[in-house]
Amino acid sequence: MTRAYISGTGFYVPEKVVTNDDLATLMDTSDEWIRERTGIQSRRFVEDGVGTTDLAVPAAEQALKAAALTVKDIDLIIFATSTPDYMAPGSGCLLQDRMGFPEIGALDVRVQCSGFVYGLSIADQYIRTGTFRHVLLVGAEVQSTGMDLSDAGRDVSVIFGDGAGAVVVSATEEDRGVLSTHLHSEGKYARELWSEVPASGRNPRISSKDVEEGRHWLKMNGREVFIHAVTRFPECIMEAIAANNLQVEDVDLIIPHQANLRITMEVARRLKVPLELVYSNIDRYGNTTAASIPIAIAESVNEGRIQKGNHVVLVAFGSGFAWASAMIKW
Ligand code: ACO
Repeated sequence: MTRAYISGTGFYVPEKVVTNDDLATLMDTSDEWIRERTGIQSRRFVEDGVGTTDLAVPAAEQALKAAALTVKDIDLIIFATSTPDYMAPGSGCLLQDRMGFPEIGALDVRVQCSGFVYGLSIADQYIRTGTFRHVLLVGAEVQSTGMDLSDAGRDVSVIFGDGAGAVVVSATEEDRGVLSTHLHSEGKYARELWSEVPASGRNPRISSKDVEEGRHWLKMNGREVFIHAVTRFPECIMEAIAANNLQVEDVDLIIPHQANLRITMEVARRLKVPLELVYSNIDRYGNTTAASIPIAIAESVNEGRIQKGNHVVLVAFGSGFAWASAMIKW
């Protein structure tokens, strides 16, 4: 039986570190407020002119190197992002060109915070069916240019950061790899975490009036997101565990989308697991949306937190609302 396993990982974050104190010079906030509510101490922001694909390139190069593969070995690019370089074309095509891949398929996945896990489920299907042997799966975001860094946007803009993570998903005949994936959405909550413009139903899609009124910034109903996230994360983790006839005790590491440390702590409490079982790096990078899980995977591998044979659960929740999980035997 062919399964899909993660054969290489990589990540890249921009060099510019933005601390909570730095943000406090731009808006009415404080290091104490941000740490207490989110667990974030600093995040990375790109310099002007750096786009999502620019961050994806070094992450993807590392992942290929770690898998001991070259661009010629890859059969498909899947690019998960909520902040594509352009509305058209997708960032996957830009990455194909930048890295000199052959004329393979390049698929953008727009499921925001859950994009990486959705992308993994797609890679898994292609590999299980024998269609492809190696898929490059990237999660990359430039969130900083979509943030209102004034007092009006402080509830959202202190949370997000920029970065990229990448994995190579490869075929194996060994007893390991992605055991299951579960995908969910509930679009009635679409406007609880969204950017209103540019919008295809407006002509022009974005006007100077929209910009004056701040409709292009990401907006979030924080309380609503919190309530749903702390329910859906544990539910989806338990779905992954039950589907594989495992127990919570069999899980060696949970890698959640890095939404907010308070959400992660509440998930650990509801699952009755120690906080150490749930990987967290939000203190250093903030919330990097589709990039947060692959960055966390790459760091966990580099730190030796994941060993061959471990059961690792990936779980995401975010804008849509959409949520998803994957159980991996490493
Ligand atoms: N600095 C200082 N004060 C702030 C800031 C800020 N950055 N942002 C908001 N405030 C103020 C508010 O204006 C409010 O002031 P008021 O009482 O005078 O009206 C006060 O702080 C408290 O605001 P609340 O909304 O009551 O704060 P709460 O304790 O609910 O925390 C938070 C807000 C952190 C957003 C919370 O709702 C939360 O954790 N939500 C989860 C959202 C989240 O983490 N999303 C992650 C991104 S989405 C994803 O990835 C799934």
